[in-house]
Amino acid sequence: MKKIISIQNKLYYYKKKYIKVDGDKSLSIRFILLSSLSKGKCIATNILKSEDVIGAIECIKKLGIKIELKNNKCKVFGKGLFGYSYRKNLILNAGNSGTTARLLFSILIDSKKKIKITGDKSLKKRDMNRVIKPLSKFGAKFEDNAGKLPVSISCSKELKPITYLESLGSAQCKSAVMIAALKTFGNTTIKSLPSRNHTELMFKNVLKLPIVIKKRKKYELIKIKGLNEFEPFNYEIPGDISSASFLIVLTLLSKNKSLVIKNVNINPSRIGIIKILNSMGAKIKFVNKKKYKGELIADILVKSAKKLKSINLDPKLNSSAIDEFLLIFLVASKSSGISKFKNLKELNKKESKRLDWGFKILNLIGVKVKKISNHGIKIYGNPKLDLNKTYVIKNYLKDHRVLMVSVIAALALGGKWKIHDSNSYKTSFPNFLKILKNLGAKINE
Ligand code: S3P
Repeated sequence: MKKIISIQNKLYYYKKKYIKVDGDKSLSIRFILLSSLSKGKCIATNILKSEDVIGAIECIKKLGIKIELKNNKCKVFGKGLFGYSYRKNLILNAGNSGTTARLLFSILIDSKKKIKITGDKSLKKRDMNRVIKPLSKFGAKFEDNAGKLPVSISCSKELKPITYLESLGSAQCKSAVMIAALKTFGNTTIKSLPSRNHTELMFKNVLKLPIVIKKRKKYELIKIKGLNEFEPFNYEIPGDISSASFLIVLTLLSKNKSLVIKNVNINPSRIGIIKILNSMGAKIKFVNKKKYKGELIADILVKSAKKLKSINLDPKLNSSAIDEFLLIFLVASKSSGISKFKNLKELNKKESKRLDWGFKILNLIGVKVKKISNHGIKIYGNPKLDLNKTYVIKNYLKDHRVLMVSVIAALALGGKWKIHDSNSYKTSFPNFLKILKNLGAKINE
């Protein structure tokens, strides 16, 4: 039987003022992969227990690494840079996660045995050539079907360092090369367009590796010296700003509400959504700021917006808001004026074609939208937008963010919503519905 979420009512008031969201997905996956390469026992607290992270744990266990997960504490017993046991005919399933799949290739770069990586229906549609190309330059051999999973990796040669230009603004590609460089003798140099910098911060502040990072006008220059073993480490994972964003937008678009979201990672390379919403008239604030192992953590204060205005977004902000565009489109729909967003080709390379889904959802709720050149979208906002029809969301490749933005639209704007594949949110934000219900939302599963 198909599982459906149905929502019939707006969320009129909050029962709580303070909430916490689940741990950061990017940091949780990086913790699992990097700790397995360390020289001993690493512990993460507040790790995200979502399907993507649990999938990453299962893959690493298959490489002979012991991992214990109890409550939100995860212990990984690393065996050093070359400690994996590579069995014959091994198949690793990255599930729905592009980050897991792409970074797995990099940690397997020295495997003499052929290892196959596969994934779910959505992941099998995504481009792996973007990591196959640079990782081949190191000396790895790939067997693939036009860059799509399943893809096998093996290596019979000695790995050699590379120079690499990362021109998509993809943290996954940059991180894949950085991690492969760890297993390579010599210096790897990366010239990279801006993207989230968690891997750089972990290399420098947690693994204490000799990494050189130089900020240039358009690029970042990263140099990594390979073959440095690193000590085990502990990590307390902060809340995920991408998950927090759903609650931020719900608050912003509803009436007379305010919310404090505690202990969220506000790394400058991730807070594009906050900058964008504030320039549209929101007054979101960061309080109790503190530094943790190079990352910046804070509580986020948000109140319902009195007036929101359109934005003509500078594409320079795209990469720092890359996972939040469906939410930003929703806010633009309820703002006064015409908003424009450009250079969003990468959005159609995500778990579903998210730029196309932006059009579909806005069309469905009666918001005027137009395609503009350069993978752009023009949204004709309507501050009086209030929904009262029936809306059905299905066949969206179970993209967690499509489900969650639909739930937020329902709770903020009204109407009767039926959203199929009701478990999709568990990929990244397993407490999503629970948090909403605790705030007072009526959601039927
Ligand atoms: C991620 C990077 C982003 C983002 C994804 C997580 C990461 O992808 O969309 O959800 O953890 O490095 P790209 O780097 O491919 O843009």
